[in-house]
Order: sequence, then C-alpha cells, then structure tokens
Amino acid sequence: MATKLTWLSHGSWLIETGKHRVLLDPFLTDNPTASTSAEALADISVILVSHGHFDHIQDVASIANRCGATVVANFEVAQWFASQHQVAETIGMNLGGTTELPFGRVKLVHAVHSSSFPDGSYAGTAGGFVLELEGSRVYFACDTALFGDMRLFAHGVDLAVLPIGDLFTMGPEESLAAIELIEPKRVLPAHYGTWPPIDQDGQAWAEAVRQRTAAEPHVLQPGESLTL
Ligand code: NI
Ligand code: MN
Repeated sequence: MATKLTWLSHGSWLIETGKHRVLLDPFLTDNPTASTSAEALADISVILVSHGHFDHIQDVASIANRCGATVVANFEVAQWFASQHQVAETIGMNLGGTTELPFGRVKLVHAVHSSSFPDGSYAGTAGGFVLELEGSRVYFACDTALFGDMRLFAHGVDLAVLPIGDLFTMGPEESLAAIELIEPKRVLPAHYGTWPPIDQDGQAWAEAVRQRTAAEPHVLQPGESLTL
C-alpha cells in the first residue's frame, strides 16, 4: 500500500497511508512558510507530537478537536492536551514504547533536544518516531542533535526524515553523519527554511548526500509530496 508524505513546511508532515490521514507536529498558524492552513486540513485521524515546543504543537488542539483526531505523544504532552485543551482521545507514551494504531505501528524513540510548553512548564522528553506502515518503515528524527543510537532503532529504514536547519537541531553536516549511521534508502530534509536563522541550501545538501552516502535525497518545497 502506498504512503504519501507531504511536507507542510518546518517539522510538519501529512502522512497519507491507505485510507488514513495522519499529521506530525502541525505548525501552520504563524508559520511564514506553511503550505496550508490548519482549517484546510480535514479527516485527520491521528496527530503525532514529538515535543512541547510551540513550533510543533501550535495547531494540534484545534485540528484534533475539529476532526476528532487522537493525539499521540509522550505522556506529559498527551496529558497536557487532554487537560488544557480538552482533546478527547490521547495516547500517552514514553521513550522506547510502541503502540499499534489502525494505520501502523508507532514507536516513540529518543531525541537529543529539550521539551517544554510555551509557558515554560515541563513537557517530558523530546522524541522522534519510527513508523511501521504497510510496505515501509519511516524514521522521523524530529528536533534532535546527532546521536549514535539512531542506528539502533532506524537502521535500514525506507525513509529517514532529518532536520538540517542547524541552530536548534543538527545541521547539514551532522545530517550526513546521521545518514551514514542510519543507511536509509531515501532521505528528506526538514526543519529548515522557515526563518532566516535556519535557512539552508537544500540542493547543496542533496548534492552532498549523493556524493557521500548511498541514500537517495529528495528536496521538497512546502506543499510537495513524496510517495513511498
Ligand atoms: Ni524544538
Ligand atoms: Mn522545532
């Protein structure tokens, strides 16, 4: 079964797999490069949330409450959406855990990053996701520095989605080291180009990936898709 990933910009993704529509870290409102609006997204069944920073949770509650979507996140983030934003369906996880959902298996893996809510309160530990979909395995590193354990849980995935923006996450150079560790078939860059401090040259990055790794890079513009 084909899976289509659409980059909504920044760390935000729409994952369409089978008949399911899943969001990761929707940040559209107040995002200067967003390819769509929160209001335009319909029929979302699950929203994955990697950590509590504003640029990952901005539109989670409004979409979840309008679509009746289940929010899947670490325990603290899931609890916060239930208690502070009246999200009816949440699944709280912790690092290393896997949950079976109608669209596939979702593993919450660690990231090397901080996590707090916009008011500064504790939002648990930042994470990434390994998704086992029908026909493909996908690793979303989300916001993170480079770390060697990526190889343990993501080695050989069909697709790795890695941040390259630098400053708040790893940059292009570290992402090449991550690709060497993970050895994914394909790789997509994320978390860059949203604001000047995280601007990067996607084409130059793709050229370096081709020269130095065996992975196939795909550089999307916000709103563009890759089909697995
Ligand atoms: Ni962050
Ligand atoms: Mn971020």
